Amino acid sequence: MTDLALNATGLRKQFGEKMAVANLTLQVKRGEIFGFLGPNGAGKTTSVKMLLGLITPTAGSATLLGQPLGDRATRAKIGFLPEHFRFHEWLKAAEFLDLHGRLHQMPKQTRQQTIPELLELVGLQDRAQTPLSAFSKGMLQRIGLAQALLNDPELVFLDEPTSGLDPLGRRLVRNVINQLRQRGTAVFLNSHLLSEVEQTCDRVTFIRQGEVLETISLHEIETAVPVTIRVGQPNEQLLADLAQFGNEVALVDGRIHLTLPDEETLPKLAHWLTSQGHTLYELTPQPVTLEERFLQIVGDQSEG
Ligand SMILES: Nc1ncnc2c1ncn2[C@@H]1O[C@H](COP(=O)(O)OP(=O)(O)O)[C@@H](O)[C@H]1O
Ligand SMILES: [Mg+2]
Repeated sequence: MTDLALNATGLRKQFGEKMAVANLTLQVKRGEIFGFLGPNGAGKTTSVKMLLGLITPTAGSATLLGQPLGDRATRAKIGFLPEHFRFHEWLKAAEFLDLHGRLHQMPKQTRQQTIPELLELVGLQDRAQTPLSAFSKGMLQRIGLAQALLNDPELVFLDEPTSGLDPLGRRLVRNVINQLRQRGTAVFLNSHLLSEVEQTCDRVTFIRQGEVLETISLHEIETAVPVTIRVGQPNEQLLADLAQFGNEVALVDGRIHLTLPDEETLPKLAHWLTSQGHTLYELTPQPVTLEERFLQIVGDQSEG
């Protein structure tokens, strides 16, 4: 069994002249909570639709759970919350989930056990007999989430799962994702909201205008520490020597900037500077927030 939930190589989608997704190459491990982050129009939904076999890629290939796209047995192990969900509004909440359970060919007994559990998971246990036509946008989003989890999937695609949700609803989605993490379910989360991926994901890939820009582990962000240093006499030799402690060494307006691999390097650097006879006026760690990285990588212009 492959340990990859998803493995995409050079996926591309063109709509006429429009290059929606240029060259999508990425991997998601089983059990990983993966964020796909980019502004509106970046190509997130198009990517997910290709991966789910809902639209045909112009080029490239991918596997889900080790199987090529479109494999029916694999589809049964995948959950999907679409961005724009068309609901059967005339059905009651429990009926709606029951219909989808039947589409998954779940036995009646399993449906009868699973559906109340899922309604409870998304906080709709009191609404089982309410028609979807009477649901608010946020409630529809939550019943859609329950639908995505009905078949106890090994990999779930959530396309902007918190759109239309208030802060309580957003927290509920975070809690559900954390429960999925504990169950070892891989999650592919599309979002244009930085805070959403920051709070839930293990790793995030930035996409803009169809191009994958960079993938970062959110844990790495916390370890690397950019610092600024101010010493009495900064000189070329000192800049060269500092490369042993970190990278991106630069002298800007009399202050030295560099990025240390971790916090433990900080006291070592302070000790070394004074032991070399430098007069140390300032040694300031400046951790980069995901928001700063986001703006560095994606820029602040969005397409829509
Ligand atoms: N069916 C389509 N026909 C033509 N253009 C499309 C179609 N679907 C998406 N696009 C375009 O492809 C780009 C990416 O869209 P989309 O994947 O929906 O972005 P995101 O989900 O990141 O907001 C956008 O410019 C969008 O207008
Ligand atoms: Mg989208």
